[in-house]
Amino acid sequence: MKKVKVGVIGCGGICRSTYMDNMMYKFNVIEVVGCADLIDSRAQYMADTYGIKKMTNEEIYNDPEIQVVVNLTYPESHFEVTAEALKHGKHVYCEKMMAPTFEEAKELARLAEENHVSFTTAPDTFLGAWEQSARKYLDDGIIGKPVTVHAQITAHYEPSTPYFDLAPKYFFFPLHYGGGFPFDLGGYYLHEMINLLGSVKRVTGFGGNLNPVRKYTNPRHPKYGEDFIVNTPTTLMAALEFENGTVGTFHISSDSNHTRHFEITGTEGVLNLGDPNSFSSLISVTRAGADPKAEKIAAGQTPTSQTMKPQDNEEDIQNLGEACPTQTVQLPILHGYSSSSRGIGLADMCYALLNGRKPRCHYDIGLHAIEVIHGIQESCTTGRIYEMTTRCERPAPIRPSALSLTGQEATLDD
Ligand SMILES: NC(=O)c1ccc[n+]([C@@H]2O[C@H](COP(=O)([O-])OP(=O)(O)OC[C@H]3O[C@@H](n4cnc5c(N)ncnc54)[C@H](O)[C@@H]3O)[C@@H](O)[C@H]2O)c1
Repeated sequence: MKKVKVGVIGCGGICRSTYMDNMMYKFNVIEVVGCADLIDSRAQYMADTYGIKKMTNEEIYNDPEIQVVVNLTYPESHFEVTAEALKHGKHVYCEKMMAPTFEEAKELARLAEENHVSFTTAPDTFLGAWEQSARKYLDDGIIGKPVTVHAQITAHYEPSTPYFDLAPKYFFFPLHYGGGFPFDLGGYYLHEMINLLGSVKRVTGFGGNLNPVRKYTNPRHPKYGEDFIVNTPTTLMAALEFENGTVGTFHISSDSNHTRHFEITGTEGVLNLGDPNSFSSLISVTRAGADPKAEKIAAGQTPTSQTMKPQDNEEDIQNLGEACPTQTVQLPILHGYSSSSRGIGLADMCYALLNGRKPRCHYDIGLHAIEVIHGIQESCTTGRIYEMTTRCERPAPIRPSALSLTGQEATLDD
């Protein structure tokens, strides 16, 4: 089978914990040639562990064999590394977010077009099992026409470990602009909302950096009790209007306690969504007729011995039917990749290159998502509604599949 050769820049946490294994063993279409990192020992570790070349960034940019540069650096380096790779005529897959600022993201998009190369960005979790199944159910009309979407993600970024931000350059990105909740967890929700509902037309918001001064809270930390500064928005509460007419709320905060809520309401029901930072989640629908038992009652059919418990009588059944006009049922997951599959966007890009189609994680989604965050912040400071300037297509859905394990990859080869 034809493979696409990639070079990896950035051998830190996510490369070590997830990406390298997935690129080497999960996705057959990817062939990792070499890796580089500012910290030599990190690249050396990957090279030794996986039997690949330790390289410098320059060697990766200039290697004629390498077709795709995989940028797994922290957000502060996304622009520099991606821009260099694009200028060298390499296709690029970059971890989230595309760049810390909308201006930088636009410049990267321009460079990709100018150099006629493919450019894709994470999060790629919207290609995962529950996300793609939710897309199919929504497109099939399970809740009728979407009316509203609500995403709420709150949690403390508690600096409670003894290692918190000990080497900020190498780094703890919740502290820095381009990191923190809007860019980190917010990115997953925005990408899944775009996957499900398409482009956003207008945004408005309140909030900002509400709690910039925090304390080192672990007694074992050398700076215990001292203050540190968070330089990124900590709470944003936004209203979004999508081009398809859906309106929604997007609430992200690292100032309050842990909550997660993600749902789409429609003219005929509610689609209860999972965690878009994960490939595996339960999803359910709340609507009339969702529960087969209640449906029998509502239809007024004569209950059979199978559908009735011995103590049921006709009056109870009628009351139950009236008391439960809607029911919630869990929906079967119809798609592959329900386990940790980061890098699926890169694999999809490799098939896109081989098959001459648009990659599903095309930068137009990443650019649009960054503009949403930018627009919310603009609205927070100006007090005005922000009109979005970018648009993106909903990515093509992945076909449902009963394939398992390595066979799942066939669904990307389209
Ligand atoms: N850590 C996670 O759980 C997680 C999960 C999903 C996505 N991500 C994303 O993955 C990316 C990396 O996150 P991480 O947690 O692995 O960060 P990290 O700090 O652990 O690793 C980043 C690595 O990039 C290297 N690097 C930075 N600039 C470089 C440059 N110019 N040239 C070469 N190497 C450079 C650093 O030395 C470091 O080893 C981020 O975009 C983040 O949003 C992280």
